[in-house]
Amino acid sequence: MTAYPARSDAFTLTAPVRLWEDGFAADPYAYYATLRAQGPIGWAELAPGVFAYIVTDRRAALDLLHDTETFSADPRPWEKTVSEDSPILGMMRWRANALFADGAEHVRYRQTLLDAFDLVEPHELRERVHKAVDILVSRFGPDGQADLVTQFARPMMALVFNNLFGLPDSESGRLDAALGAMMEGGERSAEGEAEYGRYVMELIAAKTARRGDDLTSRLLDHPLGLTPEEVVWQVFLTLGAGHEPSANLISNALSRILGNPAYYSTLTSGARPVMDAVMEVLRYETPLANYGVHYARESVSFHGMWIQAAVPIVISFGAMGHFAEKDFAGGHHPHDASHVSWGAGPHACPVKQPALLIATESVERLTQWLPDMEPVVARDRLTWRPGPFHRSLTALPVRFTPRTPDRVPSLSPDASDASDQAGDRA
Ligand code: HEM
Repeated sequence: MTAYPARSDAFTLTAPVRLWEDGFAADPYAYYATLRAQGPIGWAELAPGVFAYIVTDRRAALDLLHDTETFSADPRPWEKTVSEDSPILGMMRWRANALFADGAEHVRYRQTLLDAFDLVEPHELRERVHKAVDILVSRFGPDGQADLVTQFARPMMALVFNNLFGLPDSESGRLDAALGAMMEGGERSAEGEAEYGRYVMELIAAKTARRGDDLTSRLLDHPLGLTPEEVVWQVFLTLGAGHEPSANLISNALSRILGNPAYYSTLTSGARPVMDAVMEVLRYETPLANYGVHYARESVSFHGMWIQAAVPIVISFGAMGHFAEKDFAGGHHPHDASHVSWGAGPHACPVKQPALLIATESVERLTQWLPDMEPVVARDRLTWRPGPFHRSLTALPVRFTPRTPDRVPSLSPDASDASDQAGDRA
């Protein structure tokens, strides 16, 4: 076990910071400041009655994420203490997948995911993203106005993922709606989790019956021999872990670009590249704001805080980025201020290059279609979805000169363009 500094007896717990409140979505930085005032690790409520330690300090976060002897990713001891109907379980309950596994079991699950994604060629992925953007522009382009969250970023990710995993485009709307409800962790969470489960089960059944050139088929046939149930849980993890944060990465980046003179000419002449906006989001407004959940195997003193075993410890990527941004604004950018938004240690995001490609290509393709997009609402008046885990806009309305693409593509290999489009709209 790693030796950490002794517990500070001066440290006393104050009232937990309620990350489930609507106020957190409106102004997370006030909540992060309260947590930071408690020390490197603060005390919060993720849902009513569900408590967690929140790590807001970069050094403590890195120590924790690398120390697999002291900390485990397995939530089962904690789950025994949580009411079965708690809305938070959708995001945190144990499943037989990489995110909740330790040691050799984790390596085995993770390897299957790495191998499956390794076969996705960047140029193919780029083409899928472009087609997905074109499908969406064909829907809202003629209107001259759109909400880039619900009509672009979220359905774009759903179209791409639904396709990568092997279902026809017409199924992508279900995926988007179910994941959205589950992620918010509120009243609709259980309904969203159940619908997402049905989507994944139907996907596995379809691919078990007939393999294709898709991620699900690769997982089913992987030489490490996942059982069908294990495949279900790797798919459940990967679609969820990919769709929500990537959609939010895209919409948060677009919100920084639109109406910002530093980027404005990017849309036509390239003042600052889209990747800069994506990196700004990762550094200062990361979409997976609080996650990387771990549990002390035994009660332990860690960075001056007494950590009880089997209580969630959540890494606040959002707080760390926010404090780095403040340091930077004050001209004191610390040398180690590079972001930790992909996590760190054995569970760090295994799909970050594809995620970056999807984010930059989708924004570039959209701005090629609609180079004169203007925000309808100023950035500081935009609203954010509730939930302790994400930094996610509710809407990003824009207007632009109407565009009607001549041809509407399809991602589904066996659907004609027109029929697929009709199905997807239904
Ligand atoms: C193509 C899109 C993406 C896919 C398929 C994906 C997939 C995954 C998977 C499977 C894991 C679990 C790895 C493990 O436990 O070994 C993971 C972890 C993680 N991902 Fe991603 N991800 C995507 C995009 C993103 C984005 C956009 C972000 C945020 C910027 C992000 C942040 C993270 C973080 C912080 C972790 C670590 C969680 C932890 O420590 O428990 N991911 N991702």
